[in-house]
Amino acid sequence: MPSYVVAGAARGLGLEFVNQLSSKSDHTVFALIRNSATASTLYEVQESRENVVILEADIADSVAVEEAAKAVESATSGTLDYLIIVAALATNMNKSILAFDSNEELNEDLLEHFHTNVLGVVHTIKTFLPLLRRGPTKKVAVLSTGNADLDATLSMANPGRVGYGISKAAMNMAVAKLALALKPEGFVFVSISPGMVDSKAGRRSPENEAVFQKTAERIKVLLPDFEGPITPEQSVDMMLKVIHRWTVEETGQFVSHYGNKQWL
Ligand SMILES: NC(=O)c1ccc[n+]([C@@H]2O[C@H](COP(=O)([O-])OP(=O)(O)OC[C@H]3O[C@@H](n4cnc5c(N)ncnc54)[C@H](OP(=O)(O)O)[C@@H]3O)[C@@H](O)[C@H]2O)c1
Repeated sequence: MPSYVVAGAARGLGLEFVNQLSSKSDHTVFALIRNSATASTLYEVQESRENVVILEADIADSVAVEEAAKAVESATSGTLDYLIIVAALATNMNKSILAFDSNEELNEDLLEHFHTNVLGVVHTIKTFLPLLRRGPTKKVAVLSTGNADLDATLSMANPGRVGYGISKAAMNMAVAKLALALKPEGFVFVSISPGMVDSKAGRRSPENEAVFQKTAERIKVLLPDFEGPITPEQSVDMMLKVIHRWTVEETGQFVSHYGNKQWL
Protein backbone atom coordinates (compact mmCIF):
# COMPACT_ATOMS: atom_id res chain seq x y z
CA MET A 1 0.00 0.00 0.00
CA PRO A 2 2.41 2.78 -1.06
CA SER A 3 1.50 6.27 0.15
CA TYR A 4 2.18 9.49 -1.77
CA VAL A 5 1.96 13.16 -0.85
CA VAL A 6 1.65 15.46 -3.88
CA ALA A 7 2.13 19.10 -2.81
CA GLY A 8 0.64 21.61 -5.26
CA ALA A 9 -2.03 19.29 -6.62
CA ALA A 10 -4.90 21.67 -7.40
CA ARG A 11 -4.29 21.70 -11.16
CA GLY A 12 -1.63 21.30 -13.83
CA LEU A 13 1.05 18.66 -13.31
CA GLY A 14 0.19 18.13 -9.64
CA LEU A 15 -3.38 17.20 -10.56
CA GLU A 16 -2.07 14.78 -13.19
CA PHE A 17 0.26 13.16 -10.63
CA VAL A 18 -2.77 12.55 -8.40
CA ASN A 19 -4.79 11.26 -11.34
CA GLN A 20 -2.15 8.73 -12.45
CA LEU A 21 -1.09 7.64 -8.95
CA SER A 22 -4.63 7.14 -7.68
CA SER A 23 -5.58 5.04 -10.72
CA LYS A 24 -3.96 2.17 -8.81
CA SER A 25 -6.35 1.22 -6.04
CA ASP A 26 -3.60 0.03 -3.68
CA HIS A 27 -2.03 3.54 -3.62
CA THR A 28 -3.07 6.17 -1.10
CA VAL A 29 -2.61 9.70 -2.46
CA PHE A 30 -2.67 12.83 -0.30
CA ALA A 31 -3.22 15.91 -2.48
CA LEU A 32 -2.05 19.17 -0.90
CA ILE A 33 -3.69 22.30 -2.33
CA ARG A 34 -3.66 25.91 -1.22
CA ASN A 35 -6.97 26.93 -2.66
CA SER A 36 -10.05 24.77 -3.23
CA ALA A 37 -11.37 27.35 -5.73
CA THR A 38 -8.87 26.19 -8.39
CA ALA A 39 -9.22 22.48 -7.56
CA SER A 40 -12.62 21.58 -9.02
CA THR A 41 -11.22 18.83 -11.30
CA LEU A 42 -9.27 17.36 -8.38
CA TYR A 43 -12.50 17.14 -6.36
CA GLU A 44 -14.10 15.35 -9.32
CA VAL A 45 -11.21 12.82 -9.32
CA GLN A 46 -11.68 12.35 -5.57
CA GLU A 47 -15.41 11.66 -6.00
CA SER A 48 -14.67 8.58 -8.12
CA ARG A 49 -11.63 7.37 -6.15
CA GLU A 50 -11.63 6.36 -2.52
CA ASN A 51 -7.83 6.53 -2.27
CA VAL A 52 -7.51 10.33 -2.71
CA VAL A 53 -7.38 12.58 0.36
CA ILE A 54 -7.37 16.35 -0.18
CA LEU A 55 -5.66 18.57 2.41
CA GLU A 56 -5.25 22.33 2.38
CA ALA A 57 -1.70 23.63 2.70
CA ASP A 58 0.31 26.36 1.02
CA ILE A 59 3.90 25.06 0.93
CA ALA A 60 5.11 28.51 2.03
CA ASP A 61 2.98 28.28 5.20
CA SER A 62 4.89 26.04 7.62
CA VAL A 63 2.00 25.82 10.11
CA ALA A 64 -0.40 24.62 7.40
CA VAL A 65 2.17 22.08 6.15
CA GLU A 66 2.61 20.77 9.73
CA GLU A 67 -1.17 20.35 10.04
CA ALA A 68 -1.24 18.46 6.73
CA ALA A 69 1.61 16.20 7.88
CA LYS A 70 -0.32 15.42 11.09
CA ALA A 71 -3.37 14.44 9.02
CA VAL A 72 -1.23 12.16 6.83
CA GLU A 73 0.43 10.69 9.91
CA SER A 74 -2.84 9.71 11.50
CA ALA A 75 -4.23 8.28 8.24
CA THR A 76 -1.17 6.09 7.54
CA SER A 77 -0.23 5.06 11.10
CA GLY A 78 2.74 7.40 10.97
CA THR A 79 4.49 6.64 7.68
CA LEU A 80 4.89 8.01 4.15
CA ASP A 81 6.60 6.45 1.11
CA TYR A 82 6.86 9.27 -1.47
CA LEU A 83 6.83 13.06 -1.19
CA ILE A 84 6.43 14.83 -4.56
CA ILE A 85 6.63 18.64 -4.44
CA VAL A 86 5.14 20.22 -7.55
CA ALA A 87 4.10 23.65 -6.21
CA ALA A 88 6.12 26.64 -7.33
CA LEU A 89 5.89 30.40 -7.76
CA ALA A 90 6.49 31.49 -11.36
CA THR A 91 5.86 35.17 -11.98
CA ASN A 92 7.49 37.99 -13.99
CA MET A 93 8.58 35.29 -16.44
CA ASN A 94 9.39 37.66 -19.30
CA LYS A 95 11.35 40.36 -17.42
CA SER A 96 15.14 40.48 -17.42
CA ILE A 97 17.03 41.76 -14.35
CA LEU A 98 17.36 45.12 -16.12
CA ALA A 99 13.64 45.42 -16.83
CA PHE A 100 12.50 45.84 -13.21
CA ASP A 101 11.42 49.43 -12.49
CA SER A 102 13.35 49.68 -9.23
CA ASN A 103 15.76 47.73 -7.01
CA GLU A 104 12.88 47.28 -4.55
CA GLU A 105 10.75 45.61 -7.21
CA LEU A 106 13.64 43.33 -8.23
CA ASN A 107 14.37 42.42 -4.59
CA GLU A 108 10.71 41.66 -3.98
CA ASP A 109 10.62 39.35 -7.01
CA LEU A 110 13.75 37.47 -5.90
CA LEU A 111 12.66 37.15 -2.26
CA GLU A 112 9.13 36.00 -3.09
CA HIS A 113 10.44 33.28 -5.40
CA PHE A 114 13.04 32.24 -2.83
CA HIS A 115 10.39 32.12 -0.10
CA THR A 116 8.20 29.57 -1.93
CA ASN A 117 10.59 27.72 -4.25
CA VAL A 118 13.47 27.28 -1.80
CA LEU A 119 12.29 27.80 1.80
CA GLY A 120 8.83 26.34 1.13
CA VAL A 121 10.38 23.26 -0.46
CA VAL A 122 13.04 22.78 2.24
CA HIS A 123 10.59 23.17 5.13
CA THR A 124 7.98 20.94 3.50
CA ILE A 125 10.60 18.19 3.12
CA LYS A 126 11.75 18.69 6.75
CA THR A 127 8.17 18.53 8.00
CA PHE A 128 7.49 15.20 6.28
CA LEU A 129 10.88 13.68 7.21
CA PRO A 130 9.70 11.84 10.35
CA LEU A 131 6.97 10.10 8.31
CA LEU A 132 9.34 9.27 5.43
CA ARG A 133 11.91 7.91 7.90
CA ARG A 134 9.34 5.43 9.22
CA GLY A 135 8.48 4.17 5.71
CA PRO A 136 10.50 1.65 3.69
CA THR A 137 10.74 3.76 0.48
CA LYS A 138 12.06 7.20 1.58
CA LYS A 139 11.72 8.95 -1.80
CA VAL A 140 11.47 12.71 -2.39
CA ALA A 141 11.00 14.26 -5.85
CA VAL A 142 10.90 18.02 -6.40
CA LEU A 143 9.80 19.58 -9.67
CA SER A 144 12.52 21.72 -11.18
CA THR A 145 13.01 23.24 -14.64
CA GLY A 146 15.54 23.43 -17.46
CA ASN A 147 15.54 27.17 -16.65
CA ALA A 148 17.63 26.25 -13.59
CA ASP A 149 20.37 24.70 -15.74
CA LEU A 150 23.18 27.12 -16.64
CA ASP A 151 24.06 25.55 -20.01
CA ALA A 152 20.41 25.40 -21.08
CA THR A 153 19.84 29.00 -19.97
CA LEU A 154 22.81 30.23 -21.99
CA SER A 155 21.97 28.23 -25.10
CA MET A 156 18.31 29.32 -25.04
CA ALA A 157 19.51 32.93 -24.61
CA ASN A 158 16.52 33.89 -22.45
CA PRO A 159 17.40 36.65 -19.94
CA GLY A 160 13.90 36.49 -18.39
CA ARG A 161 12.58 34.08 -15.71
CA VAL A 162 14.83 35.81 -13.19
CA GLY A 163 13.38 35.02 -9.76
CA TYR A 164 12.01 31.73 -11.09
CA GLY A 165 15.27 30.44 -12.62
CA ILE A 166 17.51 31.68 -9.79
CA SER A 167 15.28 30.21 -7.08
CA LYS A 168 14.91 26.86 -8.87
CA ALA A 169 18.71 26.64 -9.26
CA ALA A 170 19.04 27.31 -5.51
CA MET A 171 16.35 24.70 -4.88
CA ASN A 172 18.32 22.10 -6.83
CA MET A 173 21.30 22.79 -4.58
CA ALA A 174 19.14 22.60 -1.44
CA VAL A 175 17.82 19.21 -2.61
CA ALA A 176 21.41 18.01 -3.22
CA LYS A 177 22.44 19.12 0.29
CA LEU A 178 19.48 17.29 1.86
CA ALA A 179 20.23 14.24 -0.29
CA LEU A 180 23.80 14.10 0.99
CA ALA A 181 22.71 14.55 4.61
CA LEU A 182 20.13 11.75 4.31
CA LYS A 183 21.97 9.31 2.03
CA PRO A 184 23.30 7.28 4.98
CA GLU A 185 19.66 6.63 5.97
CA GLY A 186 18.82 5.30 2.48
CA PHE A 187 16.85 8.32 1.28
CA VAL A 188 16.51 8.91 -2.48
CA PHE A 189 16.10 12.50 -3.71
CA VAL A 190 15.67 13.79 -7.25
CA SER A 191 15.09 17.27 -8.71
CA ILE A 192 13.19 16.63 -11.91
CA SER A 193 12.24 18.89 -14.81
CA PRO A 194 8.96 17.95 -16.53
CA GLY A 195 9.93 19.17 -20.03
CA MET A 196 7.96 21.89 -21.78
CA VAL A 197 4.40 20.92 -20.86
CA ASP A 198 1.14 22.45 -22.00
CA SER A 199 -0.22 22.25 -18.46
CA LYS A 200 -2.16 25.52 -18.64
CA ALA A 201 -4.08 24.85 -21.86
CA GLY A 202 -7.25 26.91 -21.91
CA ARG A 203 -6.33 29.05 -18.90
CA ARG A 204 -3.68 31.44 -20.23
CA SER A 205 -4.31 35.08 -20.97
CA PRO A 206 -4.08 35.86 -24.71
CA GLU A 207 -0.76 37.62 -23.99
CA ASN A 208 0.71 34.60 -22.16
CA GLU A 209 -0.63 32.24 -24.84
CA ALA A 210 1.26 34.26 -27.46
CA VAL A 211 4.47 34.12 -25.37
CA PHE A 212 4.04 30.35 -24.87
CA GLN A 213 3.60 29.74 -28.61
CA LYS A 214 6.49 32.09 -29.47
CA THR A 215 8.77 30.23 -27.02
CA ALA A 216 7.83 26.88 -28.59
CA GLU A 217 8.58 28.28 -32.07
CA ARG A 218 11.94 29.70 -30.90
CA ILE A 219 12.93 26.34 -29.41
CA LYS A 220 12.06 24.60 -32.68
CA VAL A 221 14.53 26.87 -34.48
CA LEU A 222 17.27 26.16 -31.91
CA LEU A 223 16.48 22.42 -31.61
CA PRO A 224 15.18 21.10 -34.94
CA ASP A 225 14.19 17.75 -33.34
CA PHE A 226 11.90 19.44 -30.78
CA GLU A 227 8.34 18.35 -31.51
CA GLY A 228 6.58 20.96 -29.38
CA PRO A 229 5.17 20.95 -25.84
CA ILE A 230 4.10 17.60 -24.40
CA THR A 231 0.88 16.92 -22.47
CA PRO A 232 0.68 16.64 -18.67
CA GLU A 233 -0.22 12.95 -19.16
CA GLN A 234 2.99 12.28 -21.13
CA SER A 235 5.19 14.29 -18.78
CA VAL A 236 3.89 12.74 -15.54
CA ASP A 237 4.05 9.23 -17.00
CA MET A 238 7.73 9.80 -17.88
CA MET A 239 8.56 11.48 -14.55
CA LEU A 240 6.95 8.69 -12.52
CA LYS A 241 9.06 6.13 -14.37
CA VAL A 242 12.20 8.11 -13.44
CA ILE A 243 11.09 8.64 -9.82
CA HIS A 244 10.22 4.97 -9.33
CA ARG A 245 13.50 3.69 -10.77
CA TRP A 246 15.76 6.32 -9.07
CA THR A 247 18.27 4.82 -6.64
CA VAL A 248 20.23 5.91 -3.61
CA GLU A 249 23.43 5.91 -5.72
CA GLU A 250 21.87 8.67 -7.86
CA THR A 251 20.37 10.63 -4.97
CA GLY A 252 20.35 14.42 -5.24
CA GLN A 253 20.75 14.66 -9.02
CA PHE A 254 18.92 17.18 -11.20
CA VAL A 255 17.50 15.50 -14.30
CA SER A 256 14.75 15.81 -16.88
CA HIS A 257 11.67 13.66 -17.51
CA TYR A 258 14.05 11.50 -19.61
CA GLY A 259 16.19 10.87 -16.51
CA ASN A 260 19.15 12.75 -18.03
CA LYS A 261 20.16 16.29 -19.02
CA GLN A 262 17.97 16.43 -22.13
CA TRP A 263 15.54 19.12 -21.00
CA LEU A 264 13.29 19.20 -24.09
N1 LIG B 1 4.57 23.42 -17.37
C1 LIG B 1 5.83 23.45 -17.75
O1 LIG B 1 6.16 23.50 -18.97
C2 LIG B 1 6.93 23.42 -16.73
C3 LIG B 1 8.24 23.50 -17.19
C4 LIG B 1 9.27 23.43 -16.26
C5 LIG B 1 8.99 23.29 -14.92
N2 LIG B 1 7.70 23.23 -14.49
C6 LIG B 1 7.47 23.05 -13.04
O2 LIG B 1 6.45 22.10 -12.84
C7 LIG B 1 5.69 22.43 -11.67
C8 LIG B 1 4.22 22.49 -11.99
O3 LIG B 1 4.02 23.36 -13.08
P1 LIG B 1 2.60 23.48 -13.80
O4 LIG B 1 2.89 23.81 -15.22
O5 LIG B 1 1.73 22.34 -13.46
O6 LIG B 1 2.05 24.80 -13.09
P2 LIG B 1 0.53 25.23 -12.80
O7 LIG B 1 -0.36 24.68 -13.83
O8 LIG B 1 0.59 26.71 -12.60
O9 LIG B 1 0.22 24.53 -11.41
C9 LIG B 1 0.94 24.86 -10.29
C10 LIG B 1 0.23 24.24 -9.11
O10 LIG B 1 0.99 24.53 -7.92
C11 LIG B 1 0.11 25.14 -6.99
N3 LIG B 1 0.86 26.04 -6.14
C12 LIG B 1 1.57 27.12 -6.51
N4 LIG B 1 2.13 27.68 -5.42
C13 LIG B 1 1.74 26.94 -4.36
C14 LIG B 1 1.99 27.00 -2.97
N5 LIG B 1 2.73 27.99 -2.47
N6 LIG B 1 1.47 26.05 -2.17
C15 LIG B 1 0.71 25.06 -2.69
N7 LIG B 1 0.40 24.95 -3.98
C16 LIG B 1 0.93 25.88 -4.82
C17 LIG B 1 -0.92 25.85 -7.81
O11 LIG B 1 -2.05 26.07 -7.00
P3 LIG B 1 -3.16 27.19 -7.33
O12 LIG B 1 -4.16 26.49 -8.19
O13 LIG B 1 -3.65 27.55 -5.98
O14 LIG B 1 -2.48 28.32 -8.05
C18 LIG B 1 -1.15 24.83 -8.92
O15 LIG B 1 -2.00 23.81 -8.49
C19 LIG B 1 6.29 23.73 -11.13
O16 LIG B 1 7.22 23.44 -10.13
C20 LIG B 1 6.98 24.31 -12.36
O17 LIG B 1 8.06 25.15 -12.00
C21 LIG B 1 6.65 23.30 -15.37
